[in-house]
Amino acid sequence: MNNGYRIAIVGATGMVGQEFIKVLLQRKFPVSAISLYASDRSAGRKMFVGSQELLVKETAGDSFDNIDIVLFSAGADISRHFAPIAAKSGALVIDNSAAWRMDPRVPLVVPEVNADDIKKHRGIIANPNCSTIQMVVALNPLHKVNPIKRVIVSTYQSVSGTGLAAVEELTKQSKIVLEGGNVIPHVYAHQIAFNLLPEIDVFMDNGYTKEEWKMVEETRKIMHAEHMQISATCVRVPVFIAHSEAVNVEFTEYMGPDEARSLLSKVPGIKVLDDPNVSLYPQPWLAAGTDDVYVGRIRSDASLMNGLVMWVVSDNIRKGAALNAVQIAEEAVRNDWVKVNNK
Ligand SMILES: NC(=O)c1ccc[n+]([C@@H]2O[C@H](COP(=O)([O-])OP(=O)(O)OC[C@H]3O[C@@H](n4cnc5c(N)ncnc54)[C@H](OP(=O)(O)O)[C@@H]3O)[C@@H](O)[C@H]2O)c1
Repeated sequence: MNNGYRIAIVGATGMVGQEFIKVLLQRKFPVSAISLYASDRSAGRKMFVGSQELLVKETAGDSFDNIDIVLFSAGADISRHFAPIAAKSGALVIDNSAAWRMDPRVPLVVPEVNADDIKKHRGIIANPNCSTIQMVVALNPLHKVNPIKRVIVSTYQSVSGTGLAAVEELTKQSKIVLEGGNVIPHVYAHQIAFNLLPEIDVFMDNGYTKEEWKMVEETRKIMHAEHMQISATCVRVPVFIAHSEAVNVEFTEYMGPDEARSLLSKVPGIKVLDDPNVSLYPQPWLAAGTDDVYVGRIRSDASLMNGLVMWVVSDNIRKGAALNAVQIAEEAVRNDWVKVNNK
């Protein structure tokens, strides 16, 4: 850690916070110092950042003095309270929660799609929902050549999307069920082991869940496509890492599967895995721990003239959260859109 930016991570002990540390080191982000923050529960705990052992501190109003970039992943309430304080102190905030995503003053960014929006930031940049990120990475290259009119998506989302407690819950419940015991759910409304739950985030008055509605609103904002018709059904599945999505797309004009495969395979950050002859298609356990968005099962929609169906898989903790946030920071630094605070 020498010449570089002073980074604070809020929620450093969580699933996404720990991945922030990994991604910053793996991508050799220019870091001069890292400060780790969490709640009072973890204050005093020590964590390794590379070979350095650092103390986790309780998040407070003065945590962001002399910090250049703050990565938040401690839930929406914490971001709502502390992100404006951090921004006011001069730091660039990249927020992983849903707190600021739909605020018109806050850019919502997936660098492969709308990196230019970063420059409009006023101190806070929002990182989109994990399911939305991987979908827009796959949709955008197709939309650019043949505007998309409508998207119907069904998700198969891993438990790591809920955080560390849900990963532990699936582990424990799986053992209990295999040993013939009775499960008492804590994190989810029902048992998640050997089950599927079509409920992610809270239900809204229109019958959708908030997670489903995030996919609608965030996709339109990121892709600058306010009239795109989108309907989502989000399902929690007993998979530890990586979300999968069946995506039905209706284009303005016909697009064949070969054209879609060819367009997608040229995009950095996308890997097309699509050969039914050898059962080649994206799977969550292959995507876990990697950076790409994987696309396969690309075929014409037999029910629709200009329709295409595809299967999109990505690691929700990496591209769906930590990696995307660090890529935003990299873009901001590369373009000089982050000021160095009090240096
Ligand atoms: N997991 C994903 O795939 C994903 C993807 C995109 C966005 N996100 C978002 O990222 C955030 C965290 O998710 P996660 O999966 O990392 O959850 P997690 O594993 O449950 O971790 C939560 C983190 O938040 C900290 N925290 C909780 N209450 C706090 C408080 N009052 N003050 C300061 N820190 C506090 C926790 O610290 P303690 O150790 O002190 O409890 C912990 O570090 C959420 O907003 C989530 O929506 C998650």
